[in-house]
Amino acid sequence: MINSVRGTKDILPEELPIWYFVESTLRKVSQLYGFREIRLPIFEKTEVFQRSIGEATDIVNKEMYTFLDRGGESITLRPELTASVVRSVIMNNLLAESPLLRLWYYGPLFRYERPQKGRLRQFHQYGAELIGSNNPEADVETISLAIEIIKRLGINEFSLLLNSLGNQKSRQRYKQILVDYLKGQAQNLSKESQERLNRNPLRILDSKDPQDIEIIKNSPLIHDYLDEESREHYVKTKELLDSCNIKYIETPNLVRGLDYYSHTVFEFQSPYLGAQDSFGGGGRYNELFSQFGYKNDVPAIGFALGIERIILILQSQGFKPQRENPKVYIAYNKPEYLTKVFEVSRILRQNEIPTIFDLQKRSLKAQLKEANKSGVIFAIIIGDDEVANETLSIKNMIDGTQVSHPFSIAIDYIINSLK
Ligand code: HAM
Repeated sequence: MINSVRGTKDILPEELPIWYFVESTLRKVSQLYGFREIRLPIFEKTEVFQRSIGEATDIVNKEMYTFLDRGGESITLRPELTASVVRSVIMNNLLAESPLLRLWYYGPLFRYERPQKGRLRQFHQYGAELIGSNNPEADVETISLAIEIIKRLGINEFSLLLNSLGNQKSRQRYKQILVDYLKGQAQNLSKESQERLNRNPLRILDSKDPQDIEIIKNSPLIHDYLDEESREHYVKTKELLDSCNIKYIETPNLVRGLDYYSHTVFEFQSPYLGAQDSFGGGGRYNELFSQFGYKNDVPAIGFALGIERIILILQSQGFKPQRENPKVYIAYNKPEYLTKVFEVSRILRQNEIPTIFDLQKRSLKAQLKEANKSGVIFAIIIGDDEVANETLSIKNMIDGTQVSHPFSIAIDYIINSLK
């Protein structure tokens, strides 16, 4: 037997109704907010991600699926989509069409992480990017799109964590102050945090290690080092969130795992998820376009939601979407009757009625058993009497009653009953 690759998951027919529900909700709410879908390649040149996510991040450092293709080019399976969106907006000159872009995407991503509940090596994200506005209104519009989706999915118990990382100047200044503080106690930091001290000190604030948490408790807070512009953006964003009645928890240690963020960052957490409790996150990335070599800065903000984690939440809330069963099963007792079977199934399907029938030459009894198991509403029986009299027998699988009608009346009866 050949197994699937560790960290990948087959999505079986039984599970798909919940995926369809999530996907149709995402599409509907995106439309309500005027966002348009963009579909991008599964793989990109490695530099797309190296340049944007940051050389010192976990993602670039140890989680990317990177390989040389047969032409010797370094290719990476996308570990996220914001970088690809920026690459595509620049390459296709989308900002020339409109200075404000509202884009959404959905699809699989790849990260070589240690698999556990809610953490896979191939997973799915929905994301939205609002490109072209530096106003706090754009931050609030983006966050409210995320919240509308979350609520329409039926997730009512969640927290929105909020922080500001300020502009580049504020962040650099704060980084230095944080490093100075942490260096004084470096020997008490966890091994991982000691390593991060030089590479990526802000990520130490995210550490789950109890020893680190003790040290971080008293560390200087980024809020105290925001310059005028950064503070103003943060204050205005919070005011607007308040006026929209959006509840948030200010979380000074929220830094996120990607380097491109500036100003607003946020994350959605659920009590249903355990260790991997974040089911979505995002933030502003005002410097990313110029990092890609674009002629000017383009302010932008976006977020992504992890679909597998959302589905875990819905499942632990007991959400059971309706399975999409066929509606009619045609049972017949002789292979010669197959022409009739094909004819009936064709008419029903033309009338949008999902229909199945036996393909294994089984007995009538076995076919009716399968009809019952497959959850259909009607079984049509084509036996010797029915063929001789040009009728169809219809068994109602819900109440067990059975009637016989001339062919076309029987068909009309089924079509009308299933309307
Ligand atoms: P991220 O926080 O890296 O952000 O990922 C967003 C969400 O993807 C996470 O909250 C989580 O639900 C899900 N996720 C991440 N890794 C895994 C995994 N290994 N298995 C299952 N789910 C996972 C980004 O990717 C940014 N691009 C978001 C963004 C968009 N920022 C601005 N625009």
